[in-house]
Amino acid sequence: MRILITSVRGKTGSALADRLAPRDDVELLGGSTDPARVTRDGVVPVELSWDRPDGWARASAGVDAVFVVVPLRADAPELVASYLATTSASTHVVLLSERDPEQSGPQGWSSRVEQAVRTSGRSWTVLRPGWFMQVMTDPRFLRDQIVGGELAFPHAEAPVAWTDVRDIAEVAELALLDREHAGRTYELSGPQAVLHIRTAELLSAALGRPVVYTEPGAEEALDGLTGFERELTALTYERVRAGHFAVVTDDAPRLTGRPARSLEAFVADAAAAGEWSSP
Ligand SMILES: NC(=O)c1ccc[n+]([C@@H]2O[C@H](COP(=O)([O-])OP(=O)(O)OC[C@H]3O[C@@H](n4cnc5c(N)ncnc54)[C@H](OP(=O)(O)O)[C@@H]3O)[C@@H](O)[C@H]2O)c1
Repeated sequence: MRILITSVRGKTGSALADRLAPRDDVELLGGSTDPARVTRDGVVPVELSWDRPDGWARASAGVDAVFVVVPLRADAPELVASYLATTSASTHVVLLSERDPEQSGPQGWSSRVEQAVRTSGRSWTVLRPGWFMQVMTDPRFLRDQIVGGELAFPHAEAPVAWTDVRDIAEVAELALLDREHAGRTYELSGPQAVLHIRTAELLSAALGRPVVYTEPGAEEALDGLTGFERELTALTYERVRAGHFAVVTDDAPRLTGRPARSLEAFVADAAAAGEWSSP
């Protein structure tokens, strides 16, 4: 079976490649804007950029199933619809969406992406995960401040049921390989909603030095963000405040047959892998 991951170097894409690359029954194509940087064994690099529609059909040729990572751009619903039109009609699409899509992004942005997939004429499975634990090891998000001894996150009073991308990858693997998941929508979360002050305690214990929780104001939390990404992030923090990311679901344990990975396990694994060891 030939499977394409649209963003194989991203957090979810790389976790999914960890599962699919070793399989003998899968030929894995890894999409990237810079295929030369796709160096993982068992992944065939392919150029796939949301900015270069001329390459979409080539990247997806002969693909039986595709894992679609949605770009954080206002035109994502239209891009995803146009991209899927270049795939074979028999392609199965597994979409990485997010929780409460009707409230995510301006003008129902996330719902419109889902709608583009549901009306594509392809069979589909939609995954709706909560906030990823791996933003804590992503240098574009929380990693560097954690290394510096701080966890700054809005809304001290609002717990988050952080989701491990390895659980998302495990469910995505099932959905890509078995059409019994076609037409299904899965809500994915971690096993427990955790207050940020507790998250900082877990990080402190794992790092062996203090990581202090601080609560930024609304403007401070959006520092450095502009345009669509700023609007999307502001709405997402508002959903944190409203408790949307505190909801614990049972789809991942039901599908994988074991409990969702805990924040404790993620922090221990990331510390052991040296994710926070260098500046
Ligand atoms: N972060 C969360 O907590 C969270 C929660 C729920 C849902 N989501 C959803 O998850 C998605 C992000 O997934 P992720 O966090 O796994 O990804 P990610 O780590 O943010 O990586 C995104 C990837 O996009 C690729 N990329 C950049 N520009 C591109 C372009 N012009 N065309 C094609 N690819 C491009 C990059 O790879 P190359 O450099 O190799 O091209 C990068 O690896 C978003 O749709 C978001 O809404 C996120």
